[in-house]
Amino acid sequence: MRNPIDDERYYIEEPFRYFRVGEENVGTRDLANTELLSVLPGQHYSMTEKTLRLEFSGNDEKAKAMISISIRVDASPGCGGIVWPAGQILSNYLINKGSNFLQGKCVVELGSGTGLVGLIAAKLGASKVWITDQAPLLDIMQQNLSMNSLQCNCVVAELDWGTSIPAAIPSPDVILAADCVYFEPAFPLLVQTLDALATERTQVFFCYKKRADKRFFGLLKKKFTWAEIMDDPNRNIYNRESITLIKLSKIV
Ligand SMILES: C[S@@+](CC[C@H](N)C(=O)[O-])C[C@H]1O[C@@H](n2cnc3c(N)ncnc32)[C@H](O)[C@@H]1O
Repeated sequence: MRNPIDDERYYIEEPFRYFRVGEENVGTRDLANTELLSVLPGQHYSMTEKTLRLEFSGNDEKAKAMISISIRVDASPGCGGIVWPAGQILSNYLINKGSNFLQGKCVVELGSGTGLVGLIAAKLGASKVWITDQAPLLDIMQQNLSMNSLQCNCVVAELDWGTSIPAAIPSPDVILAADCVYFEPAFPLLVQTLDALATERTQVFFCYKKRADKRFFGLLKKKFTWAEIMDDPNRNIYNRESITLIKLSKIV
């Protein structure tokens, strides 16, 4: 079995390894036989458009939710230009919570990368969503925002962790973050930004893949408490792949 560090190195070298194999997809040999595939959305990749169509089939019986989204992927601006499993798992969780869950809420996504999770929040009826990341990712987020025609309730903004929160970004009802714990020098910066944005009323949904994260949680516990989200039917499957979904609460 590869150790987690080698695993990450391998991922960076071959970012498309997490793409699911499908009828018309480039696919990947890596995930082809893993259980994790069963909890990821259907994926159709167009090599010419560099666009991934993700089809989430939620459990919301009333809405019979089938949410599709097109995401342009491009590894050149950095690891955020790829759709990561944690982002798909958090998106799936939000969809399965049903159509009322984010209705009317103000949402900020941190380290959005392609913008996937925030765009799903916008599709689910959040009143306003801010998809944020560092400067090199802004263009791909903007393309994905336009491609999905979500400009009426979603905006792209630069938000570099550890810097002051842009005046235009309000204190949100919900913060989303997927796969943002992987680079140790950024740990204090991420905690600082979470602390600056959240109040005791903010719901923070945080999906991460377990890596060398002890120091991150050591810093986080000074500002937040957390609990694993237990009401996700897919939890046991992604837990076995070292992915965990937690909800943070700010300590007052
Ligand atoms: C592994 S990617 C995850 C992307 C996306 N959330 C997903 O799940 O597909 C981590 C993201 O965190 C962003 N990031 C890393 N350091 C950051 C920082 N200091 N400030 C803002 N974003 C940062 C990266 O640019 C990247 O988009």
